[in-house]
Amino acid sequence: MKLLLIGGGGREHALAWALTRSPRLKKLFCAPGNAGTARLAENVAIQATQIERLVEFAQANEIDLTIVGPEQPIALGIYDAFSRVSLKIAAPSKRAALLETSKANAKEFMSKYEIPTARFGVFADYERACAFLDQLAPPVVIKADGLAAGKGVVIAPTRAAAEQTLRQFLVERRFGEASRRVVLEEYLSGREFSLFIASDGQSWCYLGTAQDYKRRGEGDRGLNTGGMGAVSPVPWLSDQMLSQTQQQIVRPTFAGLAREGIRYQGILYFGLIWTAGGPQLLEYNVRFGDPETQALVPRFDFDLLELFQRIVEGRLAGFTCRLKPKTAVCVVAISQGYPGSYEMGKPISGLENQVEQPDLFIFHAGTARNDGRLVSAGGRVLSTVGLAASLAEARAKAYRALQKISFAGMGHRRDIGN
Ligand code: AMP
Ligand code: GLY
Repeated sequence: MKLLLIGGGGREHALAWALTRSPRLKKLFCAPGNAGTARLAENVAIQATQIERLVEFAQANEIDLTIVGPEQPIALGIYDAFSRVSLKIAAPSKRAALLETSKANAKEFMSKYEIPTARFGVFADYERACAFLDQLAPPVVIKADGLAAGKGVVIAPTRAAAEQTLRQFLVERRFGEASRRVVLEEYLSGREFSLFIASDGQSWCYLGTAQDYKRRGEGDRGLNTGGMGAVSPVPWLSDQMLSQTQQQIVRPTFAGLAREGIRYQGILYFGLIWTAGGPQLLEYNVRFGDPETQALVPRFDFDLLELFQRIVEGRLAGFTCRLKPKTAVCVVAISQGYPGSYEMGKPISGLENQVEQPDLFIFHAGTARNDGRLVSAGGRVLSTVGLAASLAEARAKAYRALQKISFAGMGHRRDIGN
């Protein structure tokens, strides 16, 4: 099969690695890819959001199947554009993607299908939103309806702070059209975790859990990032808690999608929190997570290409996504200053002399080749992943590998998997 993988981060390098292990693969293209995918695939200089160019490329190169990493092309309707010209693509439709692209839509769906989630209201009007604050004790959570590059969620500790944020979102339109409406909801306390499911539109298959580390600093302090590391599976989540989550959240989600007539063909990522009252759904994402995928994929004990093939062909029933009984720890190396402004183009050393080891992976994210030299090309530069029978071993493996790698200003969190 000839495959096109869309995206250029660590998630896509991990997916590319797994796809190239499939005996079904004849040729892999990655658009735009990074220096890591370049070793496994042919990188194509088309951005993930250039939908028409991707369609043309897939047609001209007779691509059998396209796989999408990031949310932006899905939000732009890449499924619809590919399907119109009968190209096979494993991604949900633009309509299905509303589960991620509109938080108001997602919350209304959850409430319609009685999926446990924080009590909420949806508002376009500032005065009405403020009136709803009477019904919520602070802190409250305010979310811009649309995609806001991870910056659209504010936890307001006081009523005054909540009113100020509502004003910025609804009146000043901080995120433009994306903050024309807001979701205002009760704050939940508990432990967050992520759960991944593959769906072919009729059947679904459990792909595992992961915990990501969003804050820059140790002990979950500091600014929010795209993710500083991940662990899979979630160490504290028991089988009983997992089955309760599937029963109360995953099942009603797919029942709801069927009732709405939405044929969901792709990956669905559930952002969850375990509270005193059990699992609650914070959000849906219509794709794999980054960096969760880097920790998830090494645990897959099945042919990932076959999974995607079955997704697009509606043949997931009976397929078991077997997982290795091992734990994976992923630690991300970042550029100095990230998630604020940072410099790129720093030569990366220590990758050439890493000895190949079983169950140790180095996935590139923001990397590029400059005159043949490997250099940083983003905020999150690369990650190391250790896979082992125990969390402690996996952690030690990932950190040992990371310590051999360096570039000017390289940073990372020291407490991933602690
Ligand atoms: P979301 O994009 O909806 O997942 O929100 C981003 C992050 O904000 C989540 O991962 C949580 O850390 C936090 N968050 C969102 N909603 C709530 C809530 N109702 N209570 C507590 N924290 C929340
Ligand atoms: N790790 C969070 C995300 O991919 O959205």
